[in-house]
Amino acid sequence: MQIKLPFLKTNKKATKENITLHRENIPGHVAIIMDGNGRWANKRGLPRVAGHKEGMSNVKKIVSAASNLGVKVLTLYAFSTENWRRPKTEVDYLMKLPMEFLNTYLPELIEKNVKVQTIGDFLALPEHTRKAVQHAKDKTAENSGLVLNIALNYGSRDEIIRAMKAMTGEIVNGQLEADDIDEDLFSRYLFTDDIGDPDLLIRTSGEQRLSNFLLWQSAYTEFWFTDVLWPDFSEQLFEKALSDYQQRKRRYGGI
Ligand code: FPP
Repeated sequence: MQIKLPFLKTNKKATKENITLHRENIPGHVAIIMDGNGRWANKRGLPRVAGHKEGMSNVKKIVSAASNLGVKVLTLYAFSTENWRRPKTEVDYLMKLPMEFLNTYLPELIEKNVKVQTIGDFLALPEHTRKAVQHAKDKTAENSGLVLNIALNYGSRDEIIRAMKAMTGEIVNGQLEADDIDEDLFSRYLFTDDIGDPDLLIRTSGEQRLSNFLLWQSAYTEFWFTDVLWPDFSEQLFEKALSDYQQRKRRYGGI
């Protein structure tokens, strides 16, 4: 089945034309590094937090687009283990955003059958952040639509070290044999155990690096970059990323 969609001709030019997305080849898991909020605000002479607020509003649009297009899992990099190095006022603001987002949009997420999950070191988050997110997780636990997976206090190296520690602990206890460790087993010790690897990873704002995001999981992920800053990243560009993904041949090391 084909879906006809209007989209932007290039990442920068807002020329509309029609593209065709193939329903059967929608990437199941899309991950996004939502970069450029600070620059978006700077360009307008606004404080950086204004960029984060606008970025938060944009999350709602892209969640909706992903859900409508039939994406199964949308993983959003909202706060990294390195983001604690930012000024306290900015960190405090970023820690309030999940609460603000969920307070505003939870009814809509529920209506859209979205299930809220997180990856990252949840227990190290401030209590108010944890409470708001846990409430949303509980309210949407039975939903069967799009999984909105928020990477919150997430770092891939931290995740891998946690997995190593858990496995070595089990080896010491005699619950696990070192020889039994393979890629599938290792993956089960990661935060992404139940959601698997991303098919497509989008990064906005012109930067082209992973920044400690899903390092293990992105071994065969398709990458898609745009110069557009996250608050300006539109549904049309999201569709364009998916359409470009559909043109790619994934070979997983084969021919
Ligand atoms: C990177 O841009 C962005 C972040 C560190 C925060 C991203 C968070 C959101 C978009 C909102 C989160 C929403 C929910 C639902 C929790 P940057 O500030 O590093 O941008 P810059 O590189 O231009 O400075």
